[in-house]
Amino acid sequence: MASIESVQIEYQKDIKNNLEINEIEHKYLSRKGYIAELFKGVKDILPEAKAEYGQKVNELKQSIESYITEHNSAPKIESIDIHPVNITDIKSELGSISPISWLIFRIQDIFAEIGFSVATGPELETEKYNFDALNIPKSHPARDVWDTIWVQNPAGIKSLLRTHTSPVQVHYMESHKPPIRIIAPGKVYRYEATDATHETVFHQVEGLMIDTSTSIATFKAIIQYFFKELFQQEIKIRLRPSYFPFTEPSFEIDIWIEDHWLEIAGAGMVSRVVLKNGGITDPHIQGFAFGFGVERLAMILYGIDDIRLIHSADIRFASQLGKIQL
Ligand code: DAH
Repeated sequence: MASIESVQIEYQKDIKNNLEINEIEHKYLSRKGYIAELFKGVKDILPEAKAEYGQKVNELKQSIESYITEHNSAPKIESIDIHPVNITDIKSELGSISPISWLIFRIQDIFAEIGFSVATGPELETEKYNFDALNIPKSHPARDVWDTIWVQNPAGIKSLLRTHTSPVQVHYMESHKPPIRIIAPGKVYRYEATDATHETVFHQVEGLMIDTSTSIATFKAIIQYFFKELFQQEIKIRLRPSYFPFTEPSFEIDIWIEDHWLEIAGAGMVSRVVLKNGGITDPHIQGFAFGFGVERLAMILYGIDDIRLIHSADIRFASQLGKIQL
């Protein structure tokens, strides 16, 4: 067991030999250092000498501490090389809104003008909402087109990343009574190879209008209004007969752009089966639905020739629509 005197002698020696400060600190002040050892030794000191012993150890400890503070190797203020920085010269990049978000906001605004509100649904859907409730039974060939990424669900319910925004129609009908006027923008997922016009993840905007007198004529007027507002000019549109399990009749919408027809959306009068699945059984109530891809529309509007650019992390691309001022 070390004595105060022997530690003192050792310490003086170390100072004389210019022992590194951190070594002194470790040797004397660490948890297993000399000072701790001396404090532990207090138990072997006679009761009447304990106070004096403790005081001596404390004094030694303090002198070591002040030696360390004094000789600490931290650079002296005068020796720091200071390069003044003019903080007004620091330019921070303002964030910008992605062209897709920008376009979705624009679409929401256009539809808001004619009384459509925005609805959302889950991206992780059940088989029931993505397929069954939309009149796409298990054996239906349309399932191939929309087959996707299935997710193991601990509760045993078959779930998948939704392949379209159409399930939002049924969710909304279940929780709202007609009249209904909504658009539902959101991400959708497809299991397919990517190329200049296909991505595995993209955005759609679903539309749904249900009322007593909603007809194909209503639909045509609304979609005509929408494209006119979006392109800021009269746009020729055409409805072409088509097939979707959830609409009857169904059609594709083509728009006339740069001297040719371009297929832009799917639509139709909501099938009675789907209305019933959403809880609407009144035969006087009917409506239309439509769905289109946002990236496809963005490509036309902004002249983008490769869809993969849209989700690239290239900030030059993302910032083209200008900075947002917060
Ligand atoms: N869900 C369809 C798709 O992803 C698009 C669509 C077609 C939506 C017709 C509709 C509709 O609401 O009526 O390809």
